[in-house]
Amino acid sequence: MCFIACLFISVGIMLEYEKSGELKTKSIDLLDLGPSTDVSALVEEIQQAEPLITASRTEQVKLLIQRLQEKLGQHSNHTFYLFKVLRAHILPLTNVALNKSGSCFITGSYDRTCKLWDTASGEELNTLEGHRNVVYAVAFNNPYGDKIATGSFDKTCKLWSVETGQCYHTFRGHRAEIVCLSFNPQSTLVATGSMDTTAKLWNIQNGEEVLTLTGHSAEIVSLSFNTSGDRIMTGSFDHTVIVWDAGTGRKVHTLIGHCAEISSALFNWDCSLILTGSMDKTCMLWDATNGKCMATLTGHEDEILDSCFDYTGKLIATASADGTARIFSAATRKCIAKLEGHEGDISKISFNPQGNRLLTGSSDKTARIWDAQTGQCLQVLEGHTDEIFSCAFNYKGNIVITGSVEPRSWRLQ
Ligand SMILES: *[C@@H]1O[C@H](CO)[C@@H](O)[C@H](O)[C@H]1NC(C)=O
Ligand SMILES: *[C@@H]1O[C@H](CO)[C@@H](O)[C@H](O)[C@H]1NC(C)=O
Ligand SMILES: *[C@@H]1O[C@H](CO)[C@@H](O)[C@H](O)[C@H]1NC(C)=O
Repeated sequence: MCFIACLFISVGIMLEYEKSGELKTKSIDLLDLGPSTDVSALVEEIQQAEPLITASRTEQVKLLIQRLQEKLGQHSNHTFYLFKVLRAHILPLTNVALNKSGSCFITGSYDRTCKLWDTASGEELNTLEGHRNVVYAVAFNNPYGDKIATGSFDKTCKLWSVETGQCYHTFRGHRAEIVCLSFNPQSTLVATGSMDTTAKLWNIQNGEEVLTLTGHSAEIVSLSFNTSGDRIMTGSFDHTVIVWDAGTGRKVHTLIGHCAEISSALFNWDCSLILTGSMDKTCMLWDATNGKCMATLTGHEDEILDSCFDYTGKLIATASADGTARIFSAATRKCIAKLEGHEGDISKISFNPQGNRLLTGSSDKTARIWDAQTGQCLQVLEGHTDEIFSCAFNYKGNIVITGSVEPRSWRLQ
């Protein structure tokens, strides 16, 4: 048995050029290239942004893009192709995360390790060993990307150097499994959420516990900072979400309204809104400044497993155990599209940073790319033979990584 991660890369062109005698490369993404794209106009646009393409190269680049366009035509809307199948761990993966540029990523595993991978080569860069039980939550301190935090069922969190794999600190104090974690935006603190019903903040310089957030009556399963790092929000199986002052640990708001376990809780881009998803089949939208419920988003016929905002905060996407995803307008709170096609639970949903695509991962073994305006399925990403429980875009939106448990062996492609 082995367990894998798949990487999907979108179409683009790679420019090779010489600069002071050195051969350099630069990639240009063509995320929106389609059969009807005006290639001449596109090349003009690229030239304006890329002084590397001189007039003498125009025809060459045009031909290159035309050839890509023909290929796209043959493969309908298949803009992502399966780039790598990675034999990641001896035991199943738990979670995956990319660094900001997407040039490397990490996988957590039931084999008690976290592995660091080079995206381009598929090469394993490092294995972070030391936990005594499942490594469940993994995170980079993006945008810096020089540190990794791992949260384990062994009740500890470890902080690691990306460059050397050295363990800087082991944070001890939780009385049960750590299932979620996050760096603050300044990358000075790590927050951990645990089955022991508390969250803790840790100082990454000296390794000391800064605060314990006590107030939930059941497991904490989601945790996020607001953009300035002054507030931290925890979502719990006790059906509530609490917003805390990250400096003092004081409870600022308790969001009460859901009538089942919380599955996700997050801020929108300017932190004016909070979106919560629950096993009660609804999502709720809250005013982040006063903690009041503004709307309940209904329509799903089963538990909400994940939800997200796009980066402008105009759209909301929800994923459900009913096998569908939905797009809501944040302004009108109306459902504007229903994403149908998956044949199993959808456990993950995210917008690409450009906001024009949605990525979903499902127990039907596929991930899908959707048009975020129309809800049309643009591509089915196949390559796994078991449930996909984790998937993510990189910052540029041209790389997708999916994590799954695989019941049979794979070769590197
Ligand atoms: C590709 O996607 C576009 C919308 O982005 C759609 O109009 C077109 O029908 C799709 N083509 C195929 C072959 O699915
Ligand atoms: C991502 O990781 C690679 C490899 O460690 C590194 O070279 C690159 O600078 C990182 N990028 C960001 C934005 O963190
Ligand atoms: C985070 O929360 C604090 C306290 O409400 C607020 O002052 C700050 O503006 C918030 N950050 C953002 C980016 O909204």
